[in-house]
Amino acid sequence: MNRATTLGIVAALHEEIADLLTEMAPGARVEHIGMRDYYVGSLYGHDCVIVLARVGKVAAAATTAALIHRFNVDEIVFTGVAGGLAHGLSVGDVVVADTLVQHDMDASPIFPRFEIPLLGRVSFDAEAVLRDALAQAAREWLMNDMPDEVPAALRTEWHMSAPRVHVGQIASGDRFVSSAVEVTRLRDALAQTLAVEMEGAAVAQVCHEYGVPFAVMRTLSDAADDDAHVDFPRFLREVASHYSHGILRRFLLARRA
Ligand code: ADE
Repeated sequence: MNRATTLGIVAALHEEIADLLTEMAPGARVEHIGMRDYYVGSLYGHDCVIVLARVGKVAAAATTAALIHRFNVDEIVFTGVAGGLAHGLSVGDVVVADTLVQHDMDASPIFPRFEIPLLGRVSFDAEAVLRDALAQAAREWLMNDMPDEVPAALRTEWHMSAPRVHVGQIASGDRFVSSAVEVTRLRDALAQTLAVEMEGAAVAQVCHEYGVPFAVMRTLSDAADDDAHVDFPRFLREVASHYSHGILRRFLLARRA
């Protein structure tokens, strides 16, 4: 990425971009389109457009299309939280997508389950350079910055002993997954999937259709089980906001070097 490249940064919830907005260089402007505020300016030396998509696949797809058409972004990064699906993942881990699938897409028996009708594919690949740079930024932030930015008492409270970065499949659907029964169903149907959220694969589909490179990064806020909703807003505010800000800061500064 160089000075002439514009990066779109998208999130579903305010807490996931609040700190990034305060870091934008003076002179940023706001464009209000389709009930969304697009903040256009410079972030850690890069031209960026930051926007809150709101929750769900339609909201994410509409926002992604506007970023591409109206703001001519060259690449898009989605940041937010997710529920952990795979065994061995913990709250506070980071999942960076290598592929994304829409777990609620089912036009069977006309098309195979999960296949996007008339697109002929089940999953979308994140762009490898963006994906690897985000994963590296996440590893470095967890190792070097996280202990200072997320107080020890909070880490203890959320049982975050040694958070790790995982690269793998993320599944998106218009549903907050919050039951052990559904976790089992999703694991059975999509055995490769590490985490579940509500937007990433919609961004992926639009970016695929327009040929725009993209990546998706998620902090695990819950295990998608019966307790998934408990203290979700507090986790967002007290923990996940630091992840989004800190990891994207490292990602952007490394690309400037
Ligand atoms: N985002 C964070 N946790 C989630 C969950 N359990 N289901 C869907 N989206 C999420």
